[in-house]
Amino acid sequence: MQEVKKRILTGDRPTGNLHLGHYVGSLANRVKLQEEYDSFIIIADVQALTTHWEKEENLTRDIYQITLDYLAAGLNPELSTFFIQSMIPEIHELTMYYSMFTSVNVLRHNPTVKTEAAQHGFKDMTYGFLGYPVSQAADISIFKAHLVPVGEDQVPHIELTRKIVRRFNDLYRPVLVEPEVLVGDVPRLVGLDGKAKMSKSLNNAIFLSDTPEDVNLKVRNAITDPARIRKTDPGHPEICTVFEYHGVFNPEEVKEIEADCRNGSIGCVACKNKLSVKLNELLDPMRERRRKYETAPELVKEILMEGTRKAHSAARETMVDVREAMHINYFDHEIPI
Ligand code: TRP
Repeated sequence: MQEVKKRILTGDRPTGNLHLGHYVGSLANRVKLQEEYDSFIIIADVQALTTHWEKEENLTRDIYQITLDYLAAGLNPELSTFFIQSMIPEIHELTMYYSMFTSVNVLRHNPTVKTEAAQHGFKDMTYGFLGYPVSQAADISIFKAHLVPVGEDQVPHIELTRKIVRRFNDLYRPVLVEPEVLVGDVPRLVGLDGKAKMSKSLNNAIFLSDTPEDVNLKVRNAITDPARIRKTDPGHPEICTVFEYHGVFNPEEVKEIEADCRNGSIGCVACKNKLSVKLNELLDPMRERRRKYETAPELVKEILMEGTRKAHSAARETMVDVREAMHINYFDHEIPI
């Protein structure tokens, strides 16, 4: 008998290009696990509208761009199913059912929602923004996913998903699966400017789509140890962003670099050059795959259409069980008159 694979459901909002922080935070896990799991990748365009409802004209472009990023990063369309959230109406239906038993106070205290609201300067949150974690619970559970590989900031949403699933299974019938979260080896990559987090909006990111020249220039301008003026000054790798990147992207050489930095035998320029080489080695195969798909836009469209069709059919199946468990499959009941 053929073994049934467990499922992964994960994805992102299409709001801009993916960067190295995304890669080490979750994309690398998704690529690694796509053979072992039946993988679904959601392009969460409705969730993008929670912050971008006035910039909706960019959505088509951003959906294609994020798909290119995924394909470039190594997600294989033969193994991973890419789909567009808004095109699965059952997700929105399930969101509505979940919102009947999800407390507003719980949503208000969600740390990621609070951080994002502050970032966007929302004094008054919209209903859709406050409730997006409920919709995310529907994204995940409608596919009966077992595992959700995401960045650290998403953990509260997966916890809420687990709670909602438990509540649903308890209230009605155990038809849903409680998912596990999986955060990457480097949950939070620092920005090139040494700030806590690599992020597009902080303008401190290296994108998967950057050219080798972009990477070289960005690394050259990255913050190092400010106390090091001359090349022979002893360095302090523990406070250096470039050194932190060596730890992540160049583990083979990191020990040697640490020693050479501390005794002043390697200068920042040489150290940065070593890093650029490593980053470009990681990105080169991605650039090659991107080129392949960039020159075949119809193929990318086909991948999205086929993935969305497959996801829709899986979501429809779960909703039959959900409606039955909730006794809202009215025409399947005996007529009570
Ligand atoms: N919240 C995620 C982000 O900010 C996007 C997302 C939507 C998601 N639905 C999901 C992630 C389901 C994992 C699983 O990018």
